[in-house]
Amino acid sequence: MDQRQPTAEIFEDAVAMAVRAPSVHNTQPWRWRISERSVDLYADPARRLPSTDPTGRALLLSCGAALHHLRVALAVQGWSAEVGYLPDPADHDHLARISVNADTPSRDDIDLGAAIVHRRSDRRRYCDRRVPCGRLRRVAERAVPFGAVARVVPPPLRTPLGRSTRTAARRHAHDRAYLAELAAWSGRHGTADGVPAANTPRPRPEDDISQRAFLAPELADTSFATDGSEWLVIGTADDGRRSELRAGEAASALLLTATSLGMASCLQTEPLEVAELRSAIRSDVLHDCAHPQAMVRLGFMPTSVAPLPFTPRREVHEVIDIGVRA
Ligand SMILES: Cc1cc2nc3c(=O)[nH]c(=O)nc-3n(C[C@H](O)[C@H](O)[C@H](O)COP(=O)(O)O)c2cc1C
Repeated sequence: MDQRQPTAEIFEDAVAMAVRAPSVHNTQPWRWRISERSVDLYADPARRLPSTDPTGRALLLSCGAALHHLRVALAVQGWSAEVGYLPDPADHDHLARISVNADTPSRDDIDLGAAIVHRRSDRRRYCDRRVPCGRLRRVAERAVPFGAVARVVPPPLRTPLGRSTRTAARRHAHDRAYLAELAAWSGRHGTADGVPAANTPRPRPEDDISQRAFLAPELADTSFATDGSEWLVIGTADDGRRSELRAGEAASALLLTATSLGMASCLQTEPLEVAELRSAIRSDVLHDCAHPQAMVRLGFMPTSVAPLPFTPRREVHEVIDIGVRA
C-alpha cells in the first residue's frame, strides 16, 4: 500500500494550477484554505457580479471549474481526490472539502494536466473544418461523471439558440447595471483579473449564434469567411447549488478534453443569465429534460493563426489561506 501523505506544498502547487480555470469575466471568485490533510474551496462573494449573474450560478460554475482543475492537478501529482460538496450547511460560501489518497496518474490525467496550461478562451472565428462526430462525442461524454449531460446542438436547433443569444445581447445592450459591470471587468490592460482587451474580438453580427460583446475589443479576428463552431449545451437534472458546482466541473472537463484533442474552445453563458431565455433554451435544446447551465463553443484553429495571449490571474498567495481549520 502506498503510504505517502500529502503536504501543504503539494496542495499549494495544485491550487496554482487550479486558478488557471476559466471564470466568468475572469473574476476568479474563489478562496482556498490549505490544512494538513485537505484543501477547502470557498466562494468569494465580493467577486460576484450581481447584474450579470443575479443568481450566482456563474460564480458556482467558475468555482466548479477550478475544483475540477484542482482534481486534475492533484491526479497528475499522484493523488486522487475525494470531494465533499457543500460540507458546512452553516457556511454558504464553503463549497467543497477535498481530501486525497495516493494513486497513480493515468494517461488521461496527464493529457488533461498538460491541457490546463494550453487552454485559452478563444472567441475568434474557427476554421470551417468540421469537428468529427467521434471527437464531439468524446468531449460531450465527459459531462457524465459529474451528473451532467452535454448536448451537441444539431443544425435545426441552432436557429432557436441563436435567437436566444441575440435577444440576450439586445437586452444587455440597454441594461445600465450590466454595462457598468462589463466596463468594470473587461477591456482591461495589464491587470491580474478581468477580461483583457487583447483577448476579445469585435462582435460578429453575421454569426448564427452570437457571443457576448466585451468592452473595447482589440483582438484581430481570423480571416475565415464563416465561423465553423460547434455548440454544446451542458445541463443537469437538478437545479441547485451542488448541480451548478458539478456543471462547472463538467465544463472544465469538456474544455480540457477539447484542448487535449487539439480544439479551440470558449464558454458562453450570456443567454442563460436571463431567466426567460434560459427557459427557452431548456425547452428548445434540452427538450425540458435538463436545466441548462453553460454553453461551450468548439472548433479548430489552424496552427498558422497567431496564438492567443494567456489571460492573467491573481498571484496564488492572494487566494490561499494556510492554517488549521476551525
Ligand atoms: C461560468 C463562466 C461563464 C463564462 N461566460 C462567458 C461568456 O459568456 N462569453 C465569453 O466570451 N467568455 C465566457 N467565459 C470565459 C471567461 O471570460 C474566461 O474564462 C476568462 O476570461 C479567463 O480567460 P481564459 O479562459 O482564457 O483563461 C465564461 C467562463 C465561465 C467559467
